[in-house]
Amino acid sequence: MHQLEALTSGRGKTTLVTGAAGFIGSNLVDTLLAAGWRVTGIDRRSPHNDPVAAANLQQALRSPGFHFEQADVTDARVHDLLKVDVVFHLAAATGVRPSWGVNFAGYIRDNIAATHHLVQECERADVRRLVLASSSSVYGTAPQPSTEDGPLLPISPYGVSKLAAEQLALAYAARSTAVTSAVALRFFTVFGPRQRPDMAISRMLDAVRTGEPMNLYGDGQQRRNFTYVADAVRALLLAAGTAVTGRAVNIAGPASVTVKTVLDTVERVTGQPVPVVYTASRSGDPASTEADIRRAASDLGYQPAVDLPEGITSQWQWMRNADSATLIGGPA
Ligand code: NAD
Ligand code: UGA
Repeated sequence: MHQLEALTSGRGKTTLVTGAAGFIGSNLVDTLLAAGWRVTGIDRRSPHNDPVAAANLQQALRSPGFHFEQADVTDARVHDLLKVDVVFHLAAATGVRPSWGVNFAGYIRDNIAATHHLVQECERADVRRLVLASSSSVYGTAPQPSTEDGPLLPISPYGVSKLAAEQLALAYAARSTAVTSAVALRFFTVFGPRQRPDMAISRMLDAVRTGEPMNLYGDGQQRRNFTYVADAVRALLLAAGTAVTGRAVNIAGPASVTVKTVLDTVERVTGQPVPVVYTASRSGDPASTEADIRRAASDLGYQPAVDLPEGITSQWQWMRNADSATLIGGPA
């Protein structure tokens, strides 16, 4: 499907978005609504009692095309919300570094068990298309650009849970009896407006805003293939509009850069120094991520459009426009 067509051809189409109150989910919801889709969003967090969910969904809740339900992906009533053309599954436990030890129980529940439940419910409800968010974390540290058919060596419990989730969905989709076609998008560190407060660029901008130093884990030489959120959202729409099934596809920005480069870029964009305290590197953090996006180009027609300075400028503007600290953030 042509890129522009993906963004304009939603009129009359219906979708369920899980994790709709989150960072990527809420940006997706806004784009779908602008393209004429009728959208049901579910999330455990509600805009009625969670200030971040309220801020993220502020625009969507004004649209007649949007319906929100506070629900867990595993709630029985989700079945009744599945009379839709496409399901976008973004709900997940999302932090890499907190996924060790006892916390892993939550990742098993939200990433593995919930995804398995949703895939089965999609089949039962005769949903034809499922697009789910996977992660660069399935690769671990990549010495060279990761290809989808290359080694999968997650180094965090989070990465293990995301790998299990995507493989479950793809295994169901690969069955000869499959009803629901599925594609898993392996996103590489996404940033932009509404980014979660635990993530690096949010913390750098917040440090500039408040003057409170941020902890930088390690020496800043770790590399990430940062992806602007509008590019991630466009990839989700492109994936909804193709027949590609049973496959994972890398989605990333134009280049892999060091965290130190990001720090320098934030300083240039904001015109202020970022107060930083260098601390020990964290278990589970890959030294480097870098995507080979040839499959995204050939299967989906995807190319990233926004580079790091432009994206950080938008995120900084968003942060400054937010009325108060309560409007900026994500899950605790
Ligand atoms: P987020 O934490 O902002 O959003 C996730 C949302 O899912 C939250 O609002 C949370 O309340 C909800 N949720 C979690 N478990 C749920 C459940 N069982 N039932 C209902 N709601 C539930 O995260 P995000 O950064 O927007 O990430 C969205 C997706 O993209 C996730 O699947 C994540 O693993 C994936 N991803 C994100 C990035 C990134 O850089 N942000 C990179 C790669 C992959
Ligand atoms: C991000 C998301 O948080 C995950 O949900 C996602 O699955 C993952 O990308 C992915 O690509 O799959 P991460 O790469 O750790 O994870 O993104 P950030 O939290 O923005 O961290 C980027 C780098 O900055 C990491 O090396 C991290 O150690 C460092 N960092 C982060 C700090 O030094 N200090 C911080 O306060 C936060």
